[in-house]
Amino acid sequence: MPEFPSTYLTTALVNGKVSVTAQPFPHESLSEDTVVIKPDFMGICRADTKEIVGSRDIPTDRGPLFGHEFIGSVTFAGARTGFHQGDLVTFNPNITPTRTTGFAEYVFVHGTADRLDQAVIRVPEQDVLDNIWMPEPLACIVHATRKLLELTGFPSFEGKRVGIIGAGCSGLMFAMHAKHLDASVVVFNRGGMRRDFAQAQEILTGEEILPLAEAQAHRDTFDVVIVVPTIVTTDLLETAAAMAVSGGVLHIYGGTRSTDRFPGTQVNVDTIRRGERIEPVTYQEKPLAVSGAYGCFKEDYEEAFRLHADHPTDFPVERLVSRHITLDEFPEIITDIAENTKDFPGKVIVGIGAREPELGRFTRSRSGSR
Ligand SMILES: NC(=O)c1ccc[n+]([C@@H]2O[C@H](COP(=O)([O-])OP(=O)(O)OC[C@H]3O[C@@H](n4cnc5c(N)ncnc54)[C@H](OP(=O)(O)O)[C@@H]3O)[C@@H](O)[C@H]2O)c1
Repeated sequence: MPEFPSTYLTTALVNGKVSVTAQPFPHESLSEDTVVIKPDFMGICRADTKEIVGSRDIPTDRGPLFGHEFIGSVTFAGARTGFHQGDLVTFNPNITPTRTTGFAEYVFVHGTADRLDQAVIRVPEQDVLDNIWMPEPLACIVHATRKLLELTGFPSFEGKRVGIIGAGCSGLMFAMHAKHLDASVVVFNRGGMRRDFAQAQEILTGEEILPLAEAQAHRDTFDVVIVVPTIVTTDLLETAAAMAVSGGVLHIYGGTRSTDRFPGTQVNVDTIRRGERIEPVTYQEKPLAVSGAYGCFKEDYEEAFRLHADHPTDFPVERLVSRHITLDEFPEIITDIAENTKDFPGKVIVGIGAREPELGRFTRSRSGSR
């Protein structure tokens, strides 16, 4: 049994308030069915911030997402878990609600070996701690792209014209994946900051990223419009519908609530997204299909790792990282992001360890246990 401290830092989200406190280390919870992970890095996801302000419906089968993107090493593996101390892992939040938040020095996941095998994902890239990227968001994009092809029956993306609404992390990764599959891509983003970031990081060219206000000039243009803003509003659905060709597909990925309907119809876009369905709609006499995708599986992580390893130029996901912060800075910064008083493009990474002042990023704090 490894030695653990008597207390550890963890994060609480209670009534919209985020705090980091030292809690007693729960030695009694280290069972044969427990994996304890010590994260090196966590990612802030838009879903985390939506849970702070209460604008996200939380599915009971998987629980809250707050603190679900992280990479770290297994520091305790119960005898029945199938894991080993030192395994480099990440996490799939779509499998089990029996886990603690990832915004902490230790994360506790309990379950059967089968469940843990799906929820705790081995990371094949040992250098991910030096070239940080978060596997979960890319696994979700891999899944959503695969689902789109499956639902539409398209044999491939080759030659398809794909419009994307939203140049957040998800929109940019959709663009990477669609281009990799030989589609042509234009991303439309409301604000200038994310457009500038996408170009400065050489993720998109000037022709591939445009102001959302220019979407009107691209009516009846795209075979597929992927809708990836924080909240999928009626206005944005209308914009997406206008951008699509007759017979085109609107793929819904950004935030939806249980009562959201496609404009002028009873078609529930939240059911389509969370249930990963496709339904026909008509918008201003134009026939369209609305599809959606939600979450991901272990095989999507494996495909994400394969794509990144085999095609690093097509998937420059490390370039999405825009800022490194400490766990001490985390409560204030994530609250500011949630309340829209601060905004950062790309991915904000929370690190455990000492920050290199000149680089503004973290050095690794691990003791070489692997
Ligand atoms: N379906 C799934 O499985 C799945 C998985 C992961 C995430 N998501 C959801 O996907 C959404 C986007 O995630 P992300 O990681 O890309 O977030 P992000 O990096 O924070 O980006 C948010 C994007 O939404 C845009 N936006 C926000 N409000 C807008 C508005 N009123 N009109 C137009 N654009 C607006 C932002 O544009 P500006 O630059 O103009 O602010 C930005 O492009 C989130 O809701 C997240 O929960 C879904």
